[in-house]
Amino acid sequence: MTYSTILGTGSYLPEKILTNFDLEKIVDTTNEWILERTGIQQRHVAAEHETTVMMAEHAGRAALNQAGIKPANIDMIIVSSTTPDLVFPSTACLLQERFGIAGCPAFDLNGSACAGFMYAFSIADQYIRAGKIKNILVIGSEVMSRIVDWKDRSTCVLFGDGAGAIVLGASKEPGILSTHLHADGTHKDVLYLPLGSRKTPNLESIKMVGNQLFKLAVNTLGNLFDETLAANHMKKSDIDWLVPHQANMRIIDAMAKKLNLPLDRVTITLDKQGNTSSASIPLALDQAVRDGRIQRGQILMMEGFGGGLAWGSALVRY
Ligand code: UT7
Repeated sequence: MTYSTILGTGSYLPEKILTNFDLEKIVDTTNEWILERTGIQQRHVAAEHETTVMMAEHAGRAALNQAGIKPANIDMIIVSSTTPDLVFPSTACLLQERFGIAGCPAFDLNGSACAGFMYAFSIADQYIRAGKIKNILVIGSEVMSRIVDWKDRSTCVLFGDGAGAIVLGASKEPGILSTHLHADGTHKDVLYLPLGSRKTPNLESIKMVGNQLFKLAVNTLGNLFDETLAANHMKKSDIDWLVPHQANMRIIDAMAKKLNLPLDRVTITLDKQGNTSSASIPLALDQAVRDGRIQRGQILMMEGFGGGLAWGSALVRY
């Protein structure tokens, strides 16, 4: 049997930081409201030169270095992003050119939004399990600051920019134990990004019915945990870490409670980074791996949730 395992992680955050106090000067909001309702204190915002592909390259190179793998040994690139620099070529193709590894398959997943990384991760796992591909670079990279309406206080305070990467490689022992993906298009109106007019691209911004989305997230993710544990004949007590999508501290809290995990067993980056959409899971994983909290052999529950609705999980022996 061939399985996939996490060989390396990497991330990139833009230099510029926007605090809640900075936002108080832009929209009708307060630090207290943002902290209390979301748990966010600040977020990183990309400068002009910090594009989706540029951030993906930094995160990808860091993950490759940690894995001890040269770009030439990458067999596939999958990028998840709701904010690609171009409609096409894909960010994955732009990245492939930067890595100088023409030839391997490279593609983007664009529409799965904050669940996008779980979709990309699951696809990568299936390819490796099928036995034909050895190493895959999986990246989430987002410049959310370019698609939020900076006049809409209900969304602009939530998001941040950044990129996270994972190198998945073939192994004899299972690293990725299982992945689980779902979608329900009947909730398409709860969170969406219109395409905008072709003559004036980028005019449109994120639309969200936050409180409905909140309830859907809490209910759906609880069921997803049960499904993921049952598929592996595991109990909540077998989980060492929850590595969640970072949308709202109250959602993360509720998810930790569902798994009976204390918050110091949850990777939390939301306070410092905001919601970086499909970059949030690999960003949080990389931080906890690099500061030594997550150790080899531990069991991780990863989960993502976003527009579609789309949601997914992975159970991983790191
Ligand atoms: O990553 C994809 C998945 N995303 C999510 O899962 C997000 C889920 N939703 C949420 O995190 C929360 O619903 C929000 C943080 C977006 C909003 O929190 P909430 O507790 O659900 O607030 P609300 O939308 O029900 O709004 C409550 C009030 C409203 O005022 P009224 O109508 O009660 O007078 C809003 O206008 O808060 C007001 N409000 C704000 N006030 C100050 C909304 N945004 C702000 C703001 N500052 N930034």
